Amino acid sequence: MTATTTPQSPSAAPPVEQLLQARGVVMRFGGLVAVDGIDFAVNEGEIVGLIGPNGAGKTTFFNCLTGMYRPTAGEVRFLGRRLSPRPQAVTKAGIARTFQNIRLFANMTAVENVMVGRYCRTRTGALSAILHGPRYHREERETRERAHELLAFVGLGRSADHLARNLSYGDQRRLEMARALATDPRLLLLDEPTAGMNPQETRAATELIFRIRELGLAVVVIEHDMRFIFGVCDRVVCLVRGKTLTEGTPDQVQSDPRVIEAYIGTGSASESHASPDVRTSADPPATTEQPGQSDGRAPADEPTEDGEQR
Ligand SMILES: Nc1ncnc2c1ncn2[C@@H]1O[C@H](COP(=O)(O)OP(=O)(O)OP(=O)(O)O)[C@@H](O)[C@H]1O
Ligand SMILES: [Mg+2]
Repeated sequence: MTATTTPQSPSAAPPVEQLLQARGVVMRFGGLVAVDGIDFAVNEGEIVGLIGPNGAGKTTFFNCLTGMYRPTAGEVRFLGRRLSPRPQAVTKAGIARTFQNIRLFANMTAVENVMVGRYCRTRTGALSAILHGPRYHREERETRERAHELLAFVGLGRSADHLARNLSYGDQRRLEMARALATDPRLLLLDEPTAGMNPQETRAATELIFRIRELGLAVVVIEHDMRFIFGVCDRVVCLVRGKTLTEGTPDQVQSDPRVIEAYIGTGSASESHASPDVRTSADPPATTEQPGQSDGRAPADEPTEDGEQR
């Protein structure tokens, strides 16, 4: 070590901020306890995997984190503040998500879909929007420019003017990510982002998640593709029947016999072999979201995620 290098004491390292903290989250549907007292935390810049067999409660837990469901018990804090269980409040606080069953505005172009995500950060009041005042025009131009940047970021720069419904399944998933990024989140929740993708698209999605982290975001990703999960995540949490079975580094979780047993022990074992290529859900492309959801989330009267997938 030369005299000019300044050794850094451990205390000089910037503290890692805890972004999300969920404590004792419970979600009951009648007699079914889909999420059964989950504690879960995400630190700044982390990529966390959420795995578990079909019906483990992964999507339901995302719905609890994002205000789509009001948890039966427990609390969710973001940057130290208790989150109000309303989708728009959660989006404004800095959490964005994509959906297991793609929810895009099918008859809008790619760039328009991303612009919809952006509107939660624009300030044009109702009057200026109706009258198309100067602020409206400026914000609309900026929103469109930002949407184009985000499309280029996710690799859809050339598809900006294509209708969402005409995009390939993999591209629709990337478009959902661009729309989520348009809300300027600090935490991005991805529900099966590579489902239906071919290996090449899955590799591109891995790269994209690393680039999203480089932007300073933390990511939580639900996936059944274990090769993808163990290759992209810093930490992996495995849920079974609504509870945390185990949690650790990819190496720790991969070699935990209880995880393999959890996958083999489900009815979906014929499709998933608990091998590094586990993929158990196959949801068909669907681009059916109704307009009017400025945060890109499902209208309240839409079928639940669960209703759609089963
Ligand atoms: N709105 C709902 N009403 C009733 N039961 C529900 C509802 N949403 C989810 N469930 C049930 O909660 C359990 C957890 O479902 P969830 O969709 O969260 O599982 P998952 O881990 O995401 O599974 P998958 O890997 O198949 O997507 C399941 O038994 C499901 O049927
Ligand atoms: Mg799910």
